[in-house]
Amino acid sequence: MVDPVAIGFGAGLVLVFVALHFARGTGWEATADISEEVIERRASTVEETEFPEPGSRAVGGGSVPAGAIATGDEDGELEGGAAAEEETSPADIPEDEVEYFEVEYAKEGDTIEVANNQTVLEAGEDNGWDLPYACRQGQCVSCAGQITSGGNSEEYVTHDDQQMLDDAELDEGYTLTCVAYPKADFTIETGEAP
Ligand code: FES
Repeated sequence: MVDPVAIGFGAGLVLVFVALHFARGTGWEATADISEEVIERRASTVEETEFPEPGSRAVGGGSVPAGAIATGDEDGELEGGAAAEEETSPADIPEDEVEYFEVEYAKEGDTIEVANNQTVLEAGEDNGWDLPYACRQGQCVSCAGQITSGGNSEEYVTHDDQQMLDDAELDEGYTLTCVAYPKADFTIETGEAP
């Protein structure tokens, strides 16, 4: 005969094992969450590093990535510095290498010599004329003038980072006098914006 008590005891044991099984499974997921967090942190560190990793990581230690990143920044600065050197401003031309050009300020009724390390605006101001300007950085058109000698204004001046005039306007002779350094003789109508 089958003992009902034994059947009940056996069923109870099975239920306990099943419960323990699921309880262990639930507890394990917390570890998985922590692993994901660590992986995300490492991933974000790798994104900031734009050069091969093994060399820097082989040294070991938490401080190495910071040093390695600093090295990357230094490289960036060197590249930036090199680019800056290539784009030196005419304002940096040393005095013993300066050339002068005849610039006729039509509205002011005079022709003056302007050094190629001086802007058309500064030269006019030094001559006592009250010429228009605002930002003095090539970022507005307050100081604009029109070179009437014919052709593109950049045949006569070097713009040091003008950001306002497009190619068509340059072709019409427009220039931003605050960032325009002469490189030829020309006539300019000051106070003329496109
Ligand atoms: S004053 Fe603003 S561009 Fe010359």
